[in-house]
Order: sequence, then structure tokens, then C-alpha cells
Amino acid sequence: MSKRTIAPARKISGVVEVPGDKSISHRYALLAALARGRSEIAGYAAAADCQSTLGCLERLGVGIERSGGANGASVAVTGAGLDGLRRSRRALDAQNSGTTMRLLTGILAGQSFDSTITGDASLRKRPMRRVIEPLTQMGARIAGRDGNFAPLEIHGSKLQAIHYTLPVASAQVKSAVLLAGLFAEGETAVEEPVCTRDHTEVALGEFGVATRRTGRTVFVTGRKPLEARRLTVPGDLSSAAFFLAATFVLPDSDLLVHSVGLNPTRTAVLDVLSGRGAKVKIVSVHGESGELAGDVAVQYSPLTGGVLSGAIVAQLIDELPMLAALGPYTQDGVEIRDASELRLKESDRVAVLAENLRRMGAHVEERPDGLRVEGRSAGQLRGAEIDPVGDHRMAMACAIAALGASSASTIRNAGCVAISYPDFFSLLDRIVER
Ligand code: S3P
Repeated sequence: MSKRTIAPARKISGVVEVPGDKSISHRYALLAALARGRSEIAGYAAAADCQSTLGCLERLGVGIERSGGANGASVAVTGAGLDGLRRSRRALDAQNSGTTMRLLTGILAGQSFDSTITGDASLRKRPMRRVIEPLTQMGARIAGRDGNFAPLEIHGSKLQAIHYTLPVASAQVKSAVLLAGLFAEGETAVEEPVCTRDHTEVALGEFGVATRRTGRTVFVTGRKPLEARRLTVPGDLSSAAFFLAATFVLPDSDLLVHSVGLNPTRTAVLDVLSGRGAKVKIVSVHGESGELAGDVAVQYSPLTGGVLSGAIVAQLIDELPMLAALGPYTQDGVEIRDASELRLKESDRVAVLAENLRRMGAHVEERPDGLRVEGRSAGQLRGAEIDPVGDHRMAMACAIAALGASSASTIRNAGCVAISYPDFFSLLDRIVER
């Protein structure tokens, strides 16, 4: 597949719009499929992962119409109500998308038919016991390879509400249980160890099924009808984060990101950057289908770096690769702890980051639950052959680190960025000055 060369850059500057948020797009499509009637979703993510969700829904008999629009892609989803999904004769294919597989498994657990869901080689290696366990407690029967891996055979059942305490902080698992809770009689509760992204809760409210939260526990009442809606997906802050990071790699850079999601469960990355010396300004904020969105302006300033550990790690989970890649460009380096979940993503992100940053000449100490990337080594970084092992966030994080190296880098199989951000490299080319 495609190779991409990243030449050293002098600075970045400009105004960017990033594609629709991946997490929110998945949820809107899934809930629209359970509503009765036609929902319209503007700004639906172009990410291959979100297309996987649409593909699975089509197989379940949901009407999907895709069109372009001023706000990027627009998708109309025609659902037939809570009990309107139909059995797919073929296995559903979530491809590379963990969110598709885990959230849809929650929905399929409550159907009156059986389903099989599978994925690509990476997804078939990712742990699924974390959703099998609570859904089994609710009454579903789910068989997976070694009880943990896809393909999953889901025998839809009548579900009962449970009170579930999540053993790991995971918005995907929380969401799988809440979605299954839509099909159970009574009130399902999910208690999380730390608050993770709450897009499922926000989206449920938009579709007319309000959830309630007490502390770290979220409650949803089952068997309530969902209403079709018109919604707009804000830009994806996790995608924008790579460009924000580039601003702190290259002195004299500045950037304005338009209309990006600013849900407080996702903005820890902005707090972390500001807390380490970054000039970050939220220029405007507005409401967007129950979510917050706004413009973010950043300007180069030297970063101090430091340790990222504890509760904040779950809220930074998708931005940790980019923060690690900034390590050599900080004064004190970046140390990430309590992040063993990073090893269970599309790749073992701790190992892949350590390997590729070392190839560029960075000093990296790899640990079971994270890594430490030494600071003040920017001047020593050199171009290298990067292997993101098919993981989109590895390709993008390393591309950003490579901008400040002394010679060009090449990224193998760079097309993998399409999993979350198909236009990443063309946008980067547009804002980079060499
Ligand atoms: C996501 C939750 C996170 C995140 C993933 C998207 C979601 O995964 O890493 O990219 O949309 O709920 P976990 O729930 O496994 O932490």
C-alpha cells in the first residue's frame, strides 16, 4: 500500500476544518437505526470506521442514503423502530472498528434473531470479553473464540436490566451496556471507574431517551421509543489534535481549527497542553445537537512536558500517541503511566510508538503501562522509515514528530490514516511551510 514521505518543515499556519467526530457519528447512526422514521446526520465522519457502522446497519435492513453537503458528508438513516432490525444472513463486518463491534454487539444482544459479527485481523485480536461479560449477565448468549475474540456469535435474547460496574474505564463497554439496556425491561445502570466520553448519553437524550447520571453511574430505562432527528456532527477533536501538536513542534507556527467538538469529556487534551505551556485559546463555543463545539486557536510556545497518569489517562486515550510524539520537543520529556489499555488498541500502541520514535533517534523507555520519551532531543531527531503497522493514529503521530526531524521520513502503508481521517495528508500539506 501507499508510502508517504514527510519532509522536514519550517512551520505550519492556516485555518483548518476537520472531519466529523468519529465517536459521535457511530452513535448517531446506531440510534437513528433504532428510531422510527428518517434521521438526517450532517457532517457524518468520512472515517472508514464510521462507514463500517453504516455497512453493518444496511445488512440489518436499515435504509442508508449517503450524499455530499456543505458541511461534508450527509447521511440519512431510515429506521423502523426499536424492534425494526432484521436478521442479516451474512456475517456483519466491523472491519477495523472496535466501536462498531462493541456498540453493535450491545444492540444485537437484545434482538429476536441471531447475528455473527467479525472484523479484520487487528480487530479479531482485540478483547471482547469486556462486552460479552455484562451482556451475558443481562441474559444474552454470546460465543467468541476463546470466549474473548471475534467472530462473535450473538444469540439475541430477552434482556434484563442490570447494575454493572465496569472493571476498566471504557466508553465502548459503557455504551454497549447502555444500548443493550434500551431493550431490557426496567432501569440499567453502569458505573464507571472514571468518567469517560459521554456521547452515548448525550445522543440518547437527543433521540428522546433521557439518561440520568449520579456521580460515576449512568442510568437508562429500557423499552422507550426513539424519535428520528436531524443532527449535526461537530469536528473531531482527536483528529484536530494532530495538527494542534504540529504547532508545538515547529516554532513560529499558528493554527485555527474551526467548529471542533468541545465536549468536556474530550477536552482533557487542551487542558494538558495549556498546563504544559501551550498557548491554546477557545475562541467561540456553541451548542450542536446537544454537544458543544467551537473554534480553537493555537500558537507556538515551548512545552515543559511531564507525567500523565491516573484518571486523566482514560480521557486522553486517543491523544496519548500524539502527546508521546511531542515528547522530544518538550523540555522535560513526556511520561505516560497507567495506560496499559494503549496496548489493546488497533495495535500495541506503546510498543509501536517506542519502536518508531527510537528509529527517529528519540530516547524512549518502554514500560508495561506506558512509556517515557526523553525531552530536549528535537535537534537530534532524524528521518526514518516508519512502520505504523496499519494503525491510523500511529501513522499520524509519527508524521507529526517527523516534521521537526533533520531529514525526510517515509511512512509505510500510510493509507491506514483513512480509518479515522482519509484527508489527513492533503490537509497537512496545505498548512505546512517548508
Ligand atoms: C471510543 C472509546 C475509546 C477510544 C475509541 C473510541 C468510543 O475506546 O479509544 O477510539 O467511541 O467510545 P475504549 O472504550 O476502548 O477506551
